[in-house]
Amino acid sequence: MTRFAFRNDAEWWRHAVVYQVFPASFRDTDGDGMGDLQGIQSRLDHLEWLGVDAIWLSPIHPSPMLDGGYDISDFLGVDSRFGSMEDFDGLLRACHARGIRLLLDFVPNHTSDQHPWFLESRSSRKHARRDWYVWRDPAANGGPPNNWLGRFGGSAWELDRPTGQYYYHAFLKEQPDLNWRNPEVLNAMSEVLRFWMRRGVDGFRVDATGVLIEDDLLRDDPPKPGADDAVPPPERQTRVFTDSRPEAFECLARLRSVIDEFPHRLMAGEADTSAGMLGRFYGEPSAPALQLPLNFGLLDAQWDGRSVTAAIDTYLDRVPAHGWPSWALGGHDKRRIAERLGPTQARAAAMLHLTLPGTCFFYAGDEIGIPQVPVPPERIRDPFEKLVPGYGLGRDPERTPMRWNDGPGAGFTTGEPWLPIGSCAPGLNVAAQREDGRSMLQLYRRLIALRKAEPALHAPSIEPLRGTPETVAFRRRHPGQPAALVLLNLSEVPQTVDLPGPGRVLLSTHLDREDDSLAGSTILRPAEGLVIREESPES
Ligand code: GLC
Repeated sequence: MTRFAFRNDAEWWRHAVVYQVFPASFRDTDGDGMGDLQGIQSRLDHLEWLGVDAIWLSPIHPSPMLDGGYDISDFLGVDSRFGSMEDFDGLLRACHARGIRLLLDFVPNHTSDQHPWFLESRSSRKHARRDWYVWRDPAANGGPPNNWLGRFGGSAWELDRPTGQYYYHAFLKEQPDLNWRNPEVLNAMSEVLRFWMRRGVDGFRVDATGVLIEDDLLRDDPPKPGADDAVPPPERQTRVFTDSRPEAFECLARLRSVIDEFPHRLMAGEADTSAGMLGRFYGEPSAPALQLPLNFGLLDAQWDGRSVTAAIDTYLDRVPAHGWPSWALGGHDKRRIAERLGPTQARAAAMLHLTLPGTCFFYAGDEIGIPQVPVPPERIRDPFEKLVPGYGLGRDPERTPMRWNDGPGAGFTTGEPWLPIGSCAPGLNVAAQREDGRSMLQLYRRLIALRKAEPALHAPSIEPLRGTPETVAFRRRHPGQPAALVLLNLSEVPQTVDLPGPGRVLLSTHLDREDDSLAGSTILRPAEGLVIREESPES
């Protein structure tokens, strides 16, 4: 049964809720301890029940898996650990039959060092593909051409002894950077996009968009002011000459024009949302780049009324008039929200996330409140933790498997899971939370449903209200419809809030006050959030 007709509106993504799946950790159907595409298909019921509009899959392509699959050795294939191309086509069909769109991760900046393009490129200085990667002669002393640092530690340059030159890698040395100054690279990567769009994918989350091109003069990066020993070594320079170069935005605009060859496709992507930068990731109206540069501002904000109110305001102010906001509350590179805020404030965060104007991205497992799962040293997979140890940079604890039930392997696998599942606290699984009418999972479902049903939550704007140091308050208003008031208590003590007028509770984070009529003032319990339909005559 289809949930709703497949809406063919070109800008379907504007009000969408996008669910990120890290394929290795979603569900394993062949017992090898790693999730797979059939596993994702087997759990579409969960996603349809939850009400998500689209799924974004982290990379599924053949990969040595040195960087969680972001080291790709064939952009046009499916890694056998995850299944086959038939499995992929089956998953895509199954998603579309349920009205769920499917986005892939597109990793344009680099390949695996096992990609045939790189094997050819490094084979000889004369090879036609030599210039597909960034090769430079050694410095006068034989060392790297300049001081640029790789994000995963050490120099960003690796010497290839047989050919006597260094190649540039923004990430691992096993992830050489493609040379985006070479038009053949743009053409080849455009064909990758077309290949998947012809198969029917609805768009992409583009990886590391800001680092596509580096300074041609190879000017050294300056030291970061005040970066002492507490700062991880790769972050002790300001990346002036490797990141967010003007030429990178030209490449993004070119990629966008490829996306626009196909109707109704989305290009979201990693971006720098800082002042002066965010707008460039959207591009100009005449040369648009990303439709949705991903914004992790809520996740990074200090969790109190003033800081969160300020984070919302600051971000929305930076979105250009022709842009559209996005909010990401988690991801495979970020500490889990339930760990950062605790289980009760994570509910307030979910309400905030799903009632703001813009497109929402959330991360598999956050709907049941999975925390960071400790990973013992001998089971560490993430190179970040191995190469820059001691700073807590490892991303394994947020990539651990989904918990479907409280059986062995948490319903994720019948084998040995690739990362520990952790001690499954009672109730911290999908089956238990479906049974519990007041669970985090039920809250997510209700919020997503409310977001779709309540016209005020479709308004493109937000009307901030004056909160307190402990609370956040805003109104959403759609012409001719009742306005919705969102009130959130970000503290652990009750807060009395004055209401602008009478209203009726549509939803409480505690899932127990619906239909309460309110007037004058109300008390928000610790970590409580309310969505209220206002009854004031003006609305
Ligand atoms: C992006 C990915 C991250 C990966 C890196 C290199 O930041 O989100 O997981 O390690 O790119 O591809």
